[in-house]
Amino acid sequence: MANSILIFSTILLFLNLVTAQNYSFSRTLSPEELGIKPTKLTHLHFYFHDITEGPNSTVVTVAGAPEETRNTATFFGNVVVMDDPLTVGPELSSKLVGRAQGIYTYASQSDIGLLLVLNFIFMEGKYNGSTLSILGRNAILSKVREMPIVAGTGIFRFARGYVEARTYEFEPQISLNAIVEYNAYVYHY
Ligand SMILES: *[C@@H]1O[C@H](CO)[C@@H](O)[C@H](O)[C@H]1NC(C)=O
Ligand SMILES: *[C@@H]1O[C@H](CO)[C@@H](O)[C@H](O)[C@H]1NC(C)=O
Ligand SMILES: *[C@@H]1O[C@H](CO)[C@@H](O)[C@H](O)[C@H]1NC(C)=O
Repeated sequence: MANSILIFSTILLFLNLVTAQNYSFSRTLSPEELGIKPTKLTHLHFYFHDITEGPNSTVVTVAGAPEETRNTATFFGNVVVMDDPLTVGPELSSKLVGRAQGIYTYASQSDIGLLLVLNFIFMEGKYNGSTLSILGRNAILSKVREMPIVAGTGIFRFARGYVEARTYEFEPQISLNAIVEYNAYVYHY
């Protein structure tokens, strides 16, 4: 009897040792293990089409201040979701190189100042499937707006940098559609 208890508990102990998981929460690794090479600096140039009107609109306003309290000078409080095409040239018909998907919020009470939170998703060549994440202030009536590149994926893992946005075409008396020229300067590996 005592023997069989001893055998039984030995088996239990053995099973316990075999099934014990050795979880590890963190470790230090070398950059080579992740395939990290010396830093590269890349310049991307493209045009962003914000189509707010018509059947092929690329934006939807999802929230805003109630009509009676709405500040029509700054649109403060409006939240817009976009899925805007990015093209190599200023014409919408030129080659599609990616999309800008995200949110812009009219976040300023004193001017038209957007909080831009978006991902650029690229489709062109070796950049296909890679993304850059932008988070910044976009005072759309200024000539040049600078916004930080906070991160990236794919070819742009560990990305950091900035973008410059310049309005290429915006004639509010004709249409609220806008074409914006983007230059992105990004450090990555
Ligand atoms: C568990 O993992 C740590 C770190 O890799 C190692 O030092 C340790 O010997 C392991 N323990 C067992 C029981 O395998
Ligand atoms: C909307 O898109 C369709 C399909 O691409 C196109 O044929 C049409 O001309 C576009 N309409 C406008 C107003 O741009
Ligand atoms: C980009 O990648 C997707 C998915 O792998 C593929 O279907 C598509 O054809 C590629 N596009 C270009 C322009 O290489």
